[in-house]
Amino acid sequence: MKVLITAGPTIESIDPVRYLTNRSSGKMGYALAAAAAKRGHSVLLISGPTSLEIPEGVDFIPIENAAEMYQAVASQISRHDLAIFTAAVADYTPSKIAEQKLKKAEDEMTLTLKRTKDILGSAREAMNFEGILVGFAAETENLLENARSKCLKKRCNLIVANDVSRSDIGFDSSENEVTLVYPDHSETLPQDSKENLALHLIEIIEGI
Ligand code: CTP
Repeated sequence: MKVLITAGPTIESIDPVRYLTNRSSGKMGYALAAAAAKRGHSVLLISGPTSLEIPEGVDFIPIENAAEMYQAVASQISRHDLAIFTAAVADYTPSKIAEQKLKKAEDEMTLTLKRTKDILGSAREAMNFEGILVGFAAETENLLENARSKCLKKRCNLIVANDVSRSDIGFDSSENEVTLVYPDHSETLPQDSKENLALHLIEIIEGI
């Protein structure tokens, strides 16, 4: 299969030296890219800045912000059979980027933000993607309910959900426990290393 994977955070500039970002190490996306390549798939990884090495045999497009990730995905997705969206894309970006470094003044300051485009949510309609679509959902409450509604709204075949209120898994951790949420049922996988989980997930997705 030809597999497209988004990973890492996006960074949204405020001024020449500051930015907004999301807490994401990129580990899960990179582990999935490595696992898919290992199983003989052709893999394109589109990633925001991380400290990780690009897995061997994987094509790579680096991006910085949400708009660049949208453009990269929109131009590439139609060539792929499977798209997995693990990136922690900023939902909001500064309405304008200051050309010069902002100087401190008052005790409080207000930053005006605007919505970014939902890349996963655009895959079916705006990008006409007909392949297998897998999203990720990081939840702190009502995991199943929230993930199921994302799965249906974004017309995914599967949402891989994890509980980010737990400090022992997710985010920077090397282990994760995920619940697979399909349009009509769900299943929790045992806690495991992100590498093992990635291999397991690729095998499960091959089955779809
Ligand atoms: N995603 C995306 N583009 C965005 C935002 C999210 O592709 N602009 C993808 C993520 O890669 C992930 C999924 O959508 O696969 C996460 O869903 P989302 O609804 O954005 O999660 P939250 O931001 O946590 O949503 P909410 O604020 O509704 O909880």
